[in-house]
Amino acid sequence: MEKLVSSWYKNKTLPESYIFPPETRPGNLIVPTCKTIPVIDLGNAVGQNRTRIIQQILKASQEYGFFQVINHGIPEDVMDQSMDVFKEFFEMPAEDKAMLYSQDPENSCRLLTSSVNYGREKFHHWRDNLRHPCHLLEDCIKIWPQKPIRYREVVATYSIEAKKLGLRILELVAEGLGLESGHFGGKLSESRLLSANYYPPCPDPSLTMGMSKHCDPQLLTILHQGDVNGLQVFNNGEWIGVEPLHNAFVVNIGNTLQIISNNKLKSVEHRVVTNSNRARTSVGFFIAPSDDSIIEPAKSLVGNAAVYRAFEFKEFLLHFFPNFDNNDLVMERFKSQA
Ligand code: OGA
Ligand code: NI
Repeated sequence: MEKLVSSWYKNKTLPESYIFPPETRPGNLIVPTCKTIPVIDLGNAVGQNRTRIIQQILKASQEYGFFQVINHGIPEDVMDQSMDVFKEFFEMPAEDKAMLYSQDPENSCRLLTSSVNYGREKFHHWRDNLRHPCHLLEDCIKIWPQKPIRYREVVATYSIEAKKLGLRILELVAEGLGLESGHFGGKLSESRLLSANYYPPCPDPSLTMGMSKHCDPQLLTILHQGDVNGLQVFNNGEWIGVEPLHNAFVVNIGNTLQIISNNKLKSVEHRVVTNSNRARTSVGFFIAPSDDSIIEPAKSLVGNAAVYRAFEFKEFLLHFFPNFDNNDLVMERFKSQA
């Protein structure tokens, strides 16, 4: 518990264990702002407009693996209230958070610091993290935080809305790839995880990371990044910043969707840098297959070469977490001829 960055960061210099080696630290914090990920207007996605939006989603997913969506249908107050409740959560006194603190993956609702590998990693990340499942809502809500008082109500509404939005985007992706309607429904999107991050102001942002470069293993991520910069996406050999846009969500393609699309869509590396002025709170909502789902490239997309073999999703996760900062290694293991 005393390990949480939020418990000790005030008036401290950066401890040695948070200093990343030169090749993986942010170095230059100023990244190009002239280049950024596409912004897609989901409002009014009907008729010809629907086709145009699908094309924009596919193009962004191929070139960047990332895009932002506006007019996405999630009410502004649902976004604002959930952001507020997560900020409140992380800013609660240590004793209110103590019972949730755990580095044990067996605890499905837990508060941790740095990363899921705290005990094994060489360098710690400047980040605290609260994570829990969101399916089946009636069951898992009982293990969610009880404080702040309105946490369960607000986050339940948020998770229902985020799931709807995610499934809607997956439906547009399926149509764009020429897959049947509902392809990503059912078991492929049965699992939902919420992961909220808190990056306190940092004494030396150039030396440490909020989150090291990684890809998300799931199908699709819907991220509410609030209004503080920090997320960067790797594109054409350089890191580009994802500008916070009011009321927008950042959406990215997970490894599983890259595999099902037989590499037509890309799961792209991203990372989070810290800043010295303002705490940053972000909320990731991950849509994933159930553990026993069989993942493989969709038959109609393989042509004469399936890039990946078939496997159970739980096998992917087992291999992913210990190697999360080496995406090529993770993906290699699931290639057809591996
Ligand atoms: C993640 C992630 C980005 C952010 O949780 O996988 O990439 O802005 N988060 O916190
Ligand atoms: Ni991520």
